[in-house]
Amino acid sequence: MKEKIEKIQAEINAYTIENTANLEAFRIQFIGSKGSVKELFNDLKAVPNEEKRAIGQLLNALRIEAEDKYNLFKAQLETTASATSKLDFSRPGDNNEIGAHHPLSLVRSEIISIFSKIGYSVSEGPEIEDDWHNFSALNFAPEHPARDMQDTFFIEKGENEMALRTHTSSVQVRVMENSTPPIRTISPGRVYRNEAISARAHCFFHQVEGLYIDKNVSFADLKQTLLYFAKELFGEKAQIRLRPSYFPFTEPSAEVDVSCSICNAKGCNVCKYSGWLEILGCGMVDPNVLEASGIDSTVYSGFAFGMGVERITQLKYKVNDLRLYSENDVRFLKQFKAGI
Ligand code: DAH
Repeated sequence: MKEKIEKIQAEINAYTIENTANLEAFRIQFIGSKGSVKELFNDLKAVPNEEKRAIGQLLNALRIEAEDKYNLFKAQLETTASATSKLDFSRPGDNNEIGAHHPLSLVRSEIISIFSKIGYSVSEGPEIEDDWHNFSALNFAPEHPARDMQDTFFIEKGENEMALRTHTSSVQVRVMENSTPPIRTISPGRVYRNEAISARAHCFFHQVEGLYIDKNVSFADLKQTLLYFAKELFGEKAQIRLRPSYFPFTEPSAEVDVSCSICNAKGCNVCKYSGWLEILGCGMVDPNVLEASGIDSTVYSGFAFGMGVERITQLKYKVNDLRLYSENDVRFLKQFKAGI
C-alpha cells in the first residue's frame, strides 16, 4: 500500500499542467470520483487495523497535495485568461515615431548625388590632421594667421603636433598624394575652428571640398561645373557670379555667389537686398600645391572648390541659427521627415 501511495505521489509531482485541458485530465486522473487517489481510499478497507491510522494519514496528505496542485493551477490559468480578455484588440495601435534624416545629411547627400552625375567620386580623410595636410602642403606660409591657436584646435604639443582639421581641403592633398590624374572627387566632412558658439559661428561645422585634376583643365571648366551645380541645387533659373578672392592653395581664386532663390534675385533680407548669396570659394589649384602632392604641374592643372554644408542648408531650409544643427531638439529635427 505504501509503495502505491509513493508511486502516485511521484506521478502527481511529475504531471505538467499548461492549459485547461491538462488541468481537467489531472482532476480526472487523481481527484475525480474514479481517480487514483479515490481508489486508494477504497483500498484502505483491506488494510489491517493496526496500520489503518498511519496509512490513512499518508493518504490524506496525498489527497491534499493533489487538490492543492489542482487549485493552484486552476487559479493561475484563470488569471491569465482574464488578463487576455481585458485586452481591447479593436483599439487603434500607438504609432511608432519614424525618425528623420538630419538636414545636414540631406543636403550632403544631395551635393554628393549632383556631383556623382558628372563623374565625381567621394573621398574622405581624418579629422585629426597633421600640419602638412592641413596647412603646409596647401601653400600656407609659416606665419599665416590660420595657423594661430586662436583659429585652430591643436591637440598635441611637441614634435608630433596634430590639430583638428580646419577645412576639408586637407583631403585634396591626401587624394593627390595617393592617386594619379585624372582626379574627380568631392570630400564631405566635419571641420573644427576655435570660435565662440553663436547663431552665426560654431566650433565645428561641415564642408564639401571638390577637386578636379587633369590635362588642360581651365577656369572655364570650373565656372561651368559650378553653374551646373547651382542649377541642380537651386533650380534651373539659378545664376552664379564669381568675385576675385584669395586662398593660399588656389591661384587665381574666387568667391562664388548664387542668385537669391528666396526672392528670385529681387532683393530680400536674406540676400541683404543684393540679390546674391555667397555659397563657396574656389580657384585653380596652385602649382605649388600640385608639386607638394607629387603631381607634375607642367603636365596637369586643376580646380578646387569648398563649400559650407550649414550655409547651403540655411539657404535651402531657411535655418539661420547654427546652434540648431547640433542641439538635437526633436521639434527641429522632426520637420525634415519629408526629406527621407
Ligand atoms: N578651405 C576653404 C575654407 O575653409 C574653402 C575653399 C576655398 C576650398 C577655395 C577650396 C577653394 O578648395 O579652392 O574656407
